[in-house]
Amino acid sequence: MVDSGKSRPRTVIERREFLRAMLVAPGLIPRYRSLQSALLTGNRACRLAFQASSNAPLRELITSNTDFFVRNHFRTPQIRSDSWSLAVDGLVSTPLKLSYADLLLANSVHRPSTMECAGNVSGGIGVGNAVWSGVPLAELLKQAGPKAGATTVIFHGADSGDIEDAPAKTHFARAIPMEKATDPSTLLAYEMNGSPLPADHGFPLRVLVAGWYGMDSVKWLTRVELTDQPFQGYFQQKYYVALRAHERRPITRMLVNSKFLRPSESEEIHANLYRIQGVAWAGERKIAKVEFRAGPGESWQAATMAASSASMTWTAWSYDWRITSPGKYVLEVRATDDEGHTQPEVRDPDRQDDYELNTPHRVTVTVRS
Ligand code: MTE
Repeated sequence: MVDSGKSRPRTVIERREFLRAMLVAPGLIPRYRSLQSALLTGNRACRLAFQASSNAPLRELITSNTDFFVRNHFRTPQIRSDSWSLAVDGLVSTPLKLSYADLLLANSVHRPSTMECAGNVSGGIGVGNAVWSGVPLAELLKQAGPKAGATTVIFHGADSGDIEDAPAKTHFARAIPMEKATDPSTLLAYEMNGSPLPADHGFPLRVLVAGWYGMDSVKWLTRVELTDQPFQGYFQQKYYVALRAHERRPITRMLVNSKFLRPSESEEIHANLYRIQGVAWAGERKIAKVEFRAGPGESWQAATMAASSASMTWTAWSYDWRITSPGKYVLEVRATDDEGHTQPEVRDPDRQDDYELNTPHRVTVTVRS
């Protein structure tokens, strides 16, 4: 069940049934791909939802758990929910230690959110949209009572390993400002699309920093630490930084972006009217328009959005392409957010990093008569 994000207490019976399923029968928790290397895997780009709707207008598209991309810096830790706990400490008046059951019994929210990896290429597999369920981080922080001066919230993951230039057994950790941590959209999520988080996606608990690139949505969360200092962790300082000659800026908010779901690269089209379909997203902002063109020299045409755009979650769009002659076409799509940012034609040549890649998605197709 998806709601609009409002807090909605569950009934006691629902909670009991849920707990029974989660805690008494842990064997039911699916084991997904394990031993992932530090590579993006998965995501066949909404294949199922998309196949079913090739001739119908697209509505909200959810990426299934098995199709959702996986981005791990280390091996997936296998964590048992009954021996796991979450610490909330640092600059707080009441440090907390919470069990899995404590979290399941707290008031939960359910929200669709798009997560994109900061290193996703235009049109790439490193983006997905799921319904996440969990507890707003703000509620736990309120219970812990942040002390005056706390500016930064650090999320510590259970995964670690040895990497070049880093201290031995460095673990994955990232930090966000208090302002974003206390925004109602920031969740501690234990469910993905109505199922317990798959191991690769952070079981038993992950952060979901909605609207920001995926690196801040720390998986296998063990500790939430409040501090008044900028976080010096390896993954905060060495990774996920936008670099220009004299500029070093942390990567945070997702930029406006879009992709084709149909047609796919190198597809052959045997029709003179073809419904092009895709998705567009803009993190904390909404999509204002999506445009399509059938080649670099052509003019941009407005695509139709399936529903009015919402922030945090992607918007489906379509365009009925009337094809006048056979041949090879390079199709392009670009989106504009509600602050007027349009996907750039080319990558900023001064950028020295490989993040925030949001030039238009381009696919080459051949139309046969
Ligand atoms: N959390 C931990 N503990 N370890 C990680 O390697 N990768 C981050 C983030 N959270 C990571 C992590 C990155 S770079 C991304 S893009 C997202 O998780 C990917 O989430 P997913 O694998 O569930 O799609």
